[in-house]
Amino acid sequence: MESVLNYGREFEFTTAHFSKVKSDLYEYAGIVLADHKKDMAYNRLVRRLRALSIMSFDDYFLYIDSNPQEFSEFINALTTNLSGFFRERHHFDFIKSMIVPKIRESKAQSVRVWSAGCSSGEEAYSIAMTLAQEIPNISQYDIKILATDIDSSVLQAAQLGIYDLDRVSDLGEDILRRFFLKGVGSRAGKVQVIEELKGAVSFKHLNLINHWPMKGQFDFIFCRNVMIYFNRETQQELVQNFYRYLKDDSYLFVGHSEALAHHTSDFSLIGKTIYQKKVSL
Ligand SMILES: C[S@@+](CC[C@H](N)C(=O)[O-])C[C@H]1O[C@@H](n2cnc3c(N)ncnc32)[C@H](O)[C@@H]1O
Repeated sequence: MESVLNYGREFEFTTAHFSKVKSDLYEYAGIVLADHKKDMAYNRLVRRLRALSIMSFDDYFLYIDSNPQEFSEFINALTTNLSGFFRERHHFDFIKSMIVPKIRESKAQSVRVWSAGCSSGEEAYSIAMTLAQEIPNISQYDIKILATDIDSSVLQAAQLGIYDLDRVSDLGEDILRRFFLKGVGSRAGKVQVIEELKGAVSFKHLNLINHWPMKGQFDFIFCRNVMIYFNRETQQELVQNFYRYLKDDSYLFVGHSEALAHHTSDFSLIGKTIYQKKVSL
């Protein structure tokens, strides 16, 4: 059975290899890899074996044991980082119509936002662009967007803020002109977000299933298309922690398939995948 399944593969990838990958990924990141993801795991990890000129998965696991820095490459290879600017646009419409008026009315003038599982930065930059567009005197506010991810390679890309032109081509002239610089020479076909926008976002490495070192609470949290990779227990713990990290009446945005069915006593559903923290009396 094993040899048939491995037919055509450059390296043998047995059920035992896959089990080890699954358990290491789950223990470290909380990510549950379903059994049908075996080919995907192989295809992602095989690039590491080739890059390191390692000839078998057994040798790769031994290599990780003696070179702990490879473990983060192993994790980076296995995370799914699909993202995009203004993904699920209704969330950004909600920021404009419901959150911006609150910010304008508030005397505190300080706004704290968290993009949890930010991938390559599109989500956090979309939030920053929305706030900058809607609050003309934004420099008078103290706005900080924290953007975190477990994957160190996407965080590096996010910090650089360089994207292929086709990733931003449907954002509209206004946004392109105001927030992006067009690449020339070796960067032709790319755009880079302007420094002002980068300055509003702080990218940090954070494993959501570990301790969160942040001190204050947030005005809103985006955690979209991240919890789908976790089991119900992990999701539940995460949502309880988000509750503690949100200011009263503030908002949690989740992905389109991530309804908080089991946590509705803490949150009210007030829009499509938008939850408001209920204040405990
Ligand atoms: C599909 S992307 C979602 C990106 C963005 N939120 C969006 O919706 O466009 C999921 C991200 O969650 C990150 N992630 C997965 N497990 C994580 C964990 N335990 N801690 C922090 N980030 C994690 C992945 O590295 C990946 O970048």
